[in-house]
Amino acid sequence: MKVGVAKESVPGETRVAVVPDTVRRLADEGVEILVEQRAGEAATFADEAYAQAGATVVPPDDLYGRAEVVCKVRGPSPEELGRLREGQALVALLQPATAPELLAELARRGVTAFSMDAIPRVTRAQPMDALSSQSTVSGYKAALLAAEHLGKFFPMLTTAAGTIPPAKVLVLGAGVAGLQAIATARRLGAVVSAFDVRPVVKEQVESLGASFLELDVEGAEGMGGYAVALAEDQHAREQELIARHAAESDAVITTALVPGRPAPELITEEGVRGMRAGSVIVDVAAEAGGNCAATKPGETIVHDGVTIVGLTNLPATMPVHASQMYSRNVQAFLSLLVRDGALALDFEDEIVRETCVVHDGRVTKEAAR
Ligand code: NAI
Repeated sequence: MKVGVAKESVPGETRVAVVPDTVRRLADEGVEILVEQRAGEAATFADEAYAQAGATVVPPDDLYGRAEVVCKVRGPSPEELGRLREGQALVALLQPATAPELLAELARRGVTAFSMDAIPRVTRAQPMDALSSQSTVSGYKAALLAAEHLGKFFPMLTTAAGTIPPAKVLVLGAGVAGLQAIATARRLGAVVSAFDVRPVVKEQVESLGASFLELDVEGAEGMGGYAVALAEDQHAREQELIARHAAESDAVITTALVPGRPAPELITEEGVRGMRAGSVIVDVAAEAGGNCAATKPGETIVHDGVTIVGLTNLPATMPVHASQMYSRNVQAFLSLLVRDGALALDFEDEIVRETCVVHDGRVTKEAAR
């Protein structure tokens, strides 16, 4: 079977779906790998490294023309869509809930599409969980960005030039990204507190050396362990309580998401005004609209004296490890699609079924959910 690794075309996307180390592992499973010229360049993986690992480096027409499965990080551009052909399989982060037109076009073209962000959160699928691997990168980077934009030290320092108190960091949303942000801010020496509407995360937050805020908000956990949206009065109460804590914080890192909805607004305009000049907000939820009312997705701004970082693709700022982790997720997923060196789709398998968003000329029910 031939697996193609396509070059990304979205501006600013530096990741690559499969790294040379994974090429070696896939070759061991009897898979032949085609890599589009310069596919890994922005992530520091040269064509020669792929060739040495056993891949064949080819121009784009060859890649899309010969591969049975095309692996990408992002969904295809209109030009790439034009190259995909009937019977071909596509594996990428397709964001099915927000890309109905793309899915319809893939269906029209007879492509079978698998969305790496639709991998179910079950134990067996953990090695394939691209949402978790990329959120890990985002959470880590968010803490570094907070430290970089703050005109203060994170750790407590006792020096001949005086004693410096540690920075106070507040993390909102303690899922995969939030927990990684907490761990990273702690390693840098900050005093960290965190809040999440799912009460079960309290223990995880505390095990990382952060304190869990008791905000007296009735949160809930829904399907798959995800949060559900708060009732209106509870949401207003949460905003009020967060504003009080944000006013005392040097940096706030927000990571709160509710599947299928815009990111909840946790810091209002008034909340930003209440923060000290020089404070920092890093809004990891910027791509989903942001957790802060003043966030400008894709930009870093200063608003009422507060620096608000709204970068939308944090994993692309760390392309080496982000690609390496995504690549291992893709490899683990491909192992479900390949039997004896050939493509064999087993829709009895929960992971294959849930991840498949387009098949047999139609957008599957799972994707429309
Ligand atoms: P996510 O990215 O969907 O959301 C981030 C966090 O925001 C969540 O913890 C959520 O509870 C929180 N949140 C939502 N609304 C909020 C609000 N109004 N205020 C404060 N916080 C709010 O979540 P992520 O990181 O994808 O994790 C989702 C679930 O999946 C978790 O239960 C996690 O433990 C679970 N999980 C399971 C895995 C497995 O078993 N394979 C792997 C990874 C995650």
